[in-house]
Amino acid sequence: MRNRQILAVVCLLSFGTVGCEQMSADWFPQMKRQPTVQAFESTELRQFQNDATVRANHSGFMPPIGAVAIGQEAAITREEGETLVNPVPEAERARLFETGKLQFEIFCATCHGMTGLGDGPVAPVFVGVMALTGEVGVAKYFTDGHIYTTIRNGGVRMPSYNRIPAEDRWAIVTYIRYLDAESQGGQR
Ligand code: HEC
Repeated sequence: MRNRQILAVVCLLSFGTVGCEQMSADWFPQMKRQPTVQAFESTELRQFQNDATVRANHSGFMPPIGAVAIGQEAAITREEGETLVNPVPEAERARLFETGKLQFEIFCATCHGMTGLGDGPVAPVFVGVMALTGEVGVAKYFTDGHIYTTIRNGGVRMPSYNRIPAEDRWAIVTYIRYLDAESQGGQR
């Protein structure tokens, strides 16, 4: 009995102490009353969104690159793309290999196949997928820039992969060159 009385007193006391703030019209409003940016609210940062330094220093405030249309790269026409050159010199391209392989296997292999032979699991149902490597492969007829631009813009039926950052596109091109050489029994 005595225990119950003590319990009741403790309960009352605890309500008395923390109750004032919490028993408000809005229950537990603390979470709402914190500094937040509401949807569509204009912020000071917004005007700097395209500023690379601000982006670098405020990454926590910014949507991840590619998530929304901010500072999009300029369009490349097919003709312009033809002559683009891999910014990584040939002698240093070995370091692109791992990235190129990963990206190719994620984005391209579904249609073009793990080794680029045009035999990916989607190829039978997505008419017109080309072999990039091997005897009938088309990669050997294309410049690096052409392949890069195909990734960027897509083809007639092939979807655009402009969500792949530029440096990763060059890594994919490099990896396709490797696969092609392999498929013809050549060396890297
Ligand atoms: C959904 C299937 C699909 C995926 C995924 C895909 N492609 Fe293609 N690709 C095609 C088809 C279909 C063609 C035939 C030509 C066209 O559509 O213009 C093609 C053609 C190509 C060509 C030849 C372009 C030309 O001018 O003839 C290249 C190079 C190429 N793809 C590279 C890639 C690379 C690199 C990736 C990965 C980033 C990729 N593709 C992902 C379907 C795909």
